[in-house]
Amino acid sequence: MSISNETELLGMQRISEVVGVTLRKMRDYARPGMTTLELDEYGGSLLTQYGANSAPKLTYGFPGYTCISVNHEVAHGIPSEKTMLQEGDLINIDVSAELDGFWSDNGGSFILGNDIHQRAPLVNASRAILYKAIQHIKGGVKIADIGKLIETEARKSGYRIIKNLAGHGIGRSLHEEPHDILCYYDRENKTRFRKNSVVAVETFISTKAYYAQDKGDGWTLVTRDKSLVAQHEHTILITDTSPVILTAANQIWN
Ligand code: CO
Ligand code: CO
Repeated sequence: MSISNETELLGMQRISEVVGVTLRKMRDYARPGMTTLELDEYGGSLLTQYGANSAPKLTYGFPGYTCISVNHEVAHGIPSEKTMLQEGDLINIDVSAELDGFWSDNGGSFILGNDIHQRAPLVNASRAILYKAIQHIKGGVKIADIGKLIETEARKSGYRIIKNLAGHGIGRSLHEEPHDILCYYDRENKTRFRKNSVVAVETFISTKAYYAQDKGDGWTLVTRDKSLVAQHEHTILITDTSPVILTAANQIWN
């Protein structure tokens, strides 16, 4: 969406704060021995407490309030009583929700407890690349050039990117134009970011795989070769200079 008045700005700020705080609290709540269902129910109770509705549930009938993807799961992981979190797991939580007709989306990968499998470099690369990408976004910048930046930075750190997942416009629904804020250079894409528009920018930084595949449960995307992917996502408001990070409350960069 494009923000054209104070009501729209306030609406986007409120829901973005809600999803940001929910993501941060869920990350702090996660413990070894906890199931992803328990973690999701905690997240769902926070959203309800703030008067917000889970976006994937509302939009797609997703079986959970939030998406929780563990280890070689890349995205859209279904919260389950069968998935128990363990020390050193690579966990991604993605929280998107609606409040008063405004929608916001954010996500972040982290290592649970001690990094016994040495996965922190991947997570840190994804965080740093999202930061750098967002600092380069302003009105008039080509979407393809941000993809190029993400891909180049990933390669410099020894990583690859996932090609079939993307950031997107957001605001009056979960997924809006532009639908193709990719993590690589797409020469066909001539679209530019527009001032005052709201977009969700997300990294998908991979140790090896270029594509996320269906796991077979209808939702979860995994890497076939069990390689790992870290994702970080912010909803931002584009300006003439640095963007406003609407979901800053998630503290993924702290
Ligand atoms: Co998301
Ligand atoms: Co998103």
